Amino acid sequence: MKIFLDTANVESIRKYNDMGVLDGITTNPTLLSKEQGPPEEIMKTIVSMVKGPVSLEVIGTESVHMIEEAHYLKKYGQNVIVKIPMIPEGLKALKTLSSEGISTNVTLVFSANQALLAAKAGATYVSPFIGRLDDIGHNGMAIVKSIVSIFRNYQLKTQVLVASIRHPDHVVQAAEIGADVVTLPPDILGKMMKHPLTEKGLEAFLSDWEKIRNESPRLTK
Ligand code: E4P
Repeated sequence: MKIFLDTANVESIRKYNDMGVLDGITTNPTLLSKEQGPPEEIMKTIVSMVKGPVSLEVIGTESVHMIEEAHYLKKYGQNVIVKIPMIPEGLKALKTLSSEGISTNVTLVFSANQALLAAKAGATYVSPFIGRLDDIGHNGMAIVKSIVSIFRNYQLKTQVLVASIRHPDHVVQAAEIGADVVTLPPDILGKMMKHPLTEKGLEAFLSDWEKIRNESPRLTK
């Protein structure tokens, strides 16, 4: 399963990029609004610093505008994935963009039917928003399970990108279901790496090493 970072924060992207755990980035207008500086510059910087796919969202709500914006965003780099909202005009735009070979990520997906339609229209990725479904008392992960099974039944090539993740356990569940990608806020990726027993164990190893360090002076510490 691929791991994307769900952020427009360049520092967080650099941090996790250096660890080699990032396969790509997803952004959206809300995430961009939290950062300092012109959004276009931030998007260009992110596209240039990450090798993998970077989702950038269109603002237009009519297919003709979405297509124009997609062509514009694509100029930032070959790794740009154009994020299209799951609305009827978005499906129309998808049809054109997929015939032009432009990769897309259909965002704001809240049902298996929406995912099925997006896949039929040629989406590269569909993004079911798990956390926002959970927030209103639905079971977000049940939608992911359903989408993965439908795509398998019909050998649809569209990848399932689990979005709006709120908890590290969402990542485990998505992986068990067989989702293709999860996109995570930086704090969730940070939590995935940590375990109190790892920290406790390392502390004990280091303090025990202190007792014998003089016998191996060439090792650090
Ligand atoms: C995905 O592409 C979206 O940017 C994101 O996951 C939305 O998450 P939120 O519900 O935490 O805003």
